[in-house]
Amino acid sequence: MSRVVDQYKRACNSLAGGVSSSTRLNHAVGHAMLFDRAEGCRLWDLDGREYIDLCCSHGATLLGHGDARIRAAVERTLDRGAACSYENELHAELGELLCETVPCLERVRFTGAGTEATMHCIRLARAFSGRTKLVRFEGNFHGYHDQVMWAAAGELGQTEPPLAPISTGVTPGIDQHLIQIPYNRPDLLEQVFDRHGDEIAAVICEAVYYNAGCVLPTDEFAAAMRRLTTDHGSLLIFDEILSAFRMCAGGAQEYLGITPDLCTIGKAVGGGYPISVFGGRAEIMCRLMPEGDCQHSGTYNGHCVSVAAAGAAIRAFREPGFYPHIDVISERLCGGLSKLFEKHGIPGRVQWLGARFGIYFGIDHEVRDYADAKKHDRDMMLRFIAAAIANGVYFHDYGGGAVHHGFCAAMQVADVDEALSRLDAAVATLC
Ligand SMILES: Cc1ncc(COP(=O)(O)O)c(C=O)c1O
Repeated sequence: MSRVVDQYKRACNSLAGGVSSSTRLNHAVGHAMLFDRAEGCRLWDLDGREYIDLCCSHGATLLGHGDARIRAAVERTLDRGAACSYENELHAELGELLCETVPCLERVRFTGAGTEATMHCIRLARAFSGRTKLVRFEGNFHGYHDQVMWAAAGELGQTEPPLAPISTGVTPGIDQHLIQIPYNRPDLLEQVFDRHGDEIAAVICEAVYYNAGCVLPTDEFAAAMRRLTTDHGSLLIFDEILSAFRMCAGGAQEYLGITPDLCTIGKAVGGGYPISVFGGRAEIMCRLMPEGDCQHSGTYNGHCVSVAAAGAAIRAFREPGFYPHIDVISERLCGGLSKLFEKHGIPGRVQWLGARFGIYFGIDHEVRDYADAKKHDRDMMLRFIAAAIANGVYFHDYGGGAVHHGFCAAMQVADVDEALSRLDAAVATLC
């Protein structure tokens, strides 16, 4: 008798597929995980089993579950009546904090999901540039709207391949405005700008490509994106929904030393409450109504509870010692995991930066792009995740190609050592 499984089955009778979000099914265990409570880096499921969380709400709970600073900010807002769909002083406070912290931000807007943030950012880039074409990189994930749900129809690794929608129901024809090339190929980016330079509204990029695990852009690639977009009057958009605050307070743009024109920020920014952000140069952001002519609105945009939570989260990220702690934990956890694979003779490669990491089974060289990441041994990944969950460490499998994992700042050295000891037992079952 499992309450987790029983309640999942119950959900299947009223929620489509038994979940509130398609990717919430954990393919490694064949059902969604249902958690009763959470604290710091730990989760307890409906059966009372405890897990060390290495999914961390898909990246949203960088501070850990139930952080006291976030809770206090939320409670103060609830005490004021949480007037929804109105502005208060917390919105400007959050805007100021963001603009002080993230290099490209001069003006911001708030959305609910990251999907909305990339959708509005792309619309704004088209409005500002007066052009329609969007350059995107193979495998980079930008959310669930029709403008971005496209992938190569055939073989991977091609320049400007025919594209096919990733889901049924996507509006046909959008692909004529999309140009796709492989990640980390400045030479191909240059060719595409030679061919289409004056039609390109923007280049959108996962500046640290965490959706393929953890893939870093080369210096040449990062510099080429900035140079070519500037030279051709196109905009550079860094999609930092997942990378923001992950390795330093200014996100991937600070880490790489490349300032985009616009960026999107999500997940960690809300400290576990639903808010995402898009923003950038004032001159571009001023094109948004009511100042300009480009629409961005929504009843729940900038909900005061989430805005309060985000302000508290950013203050926490800016505390001295926050990123040195992240670095200590990532070295110990990811280095330790690599050693476990070695010890058991399992071909598992770990790549990490800041608080997120990728595991690639069956790959013995640095993963540099999506085609590389897709070659991982998915069957072994599913077996690893199932064994980790059975041994008290929670990882999520999204059902696609490579997956990303992460830890929270509430994790201490003792938690890492406990996680590694549980994972030792899990990895032993893969042999
Ligand atoms: C880079 C990136 N962009 C956009 C999104 C979409 O964000 P959301 O799931 O909040 O809609 C995600 C979500 O994983 C993401 O990782």
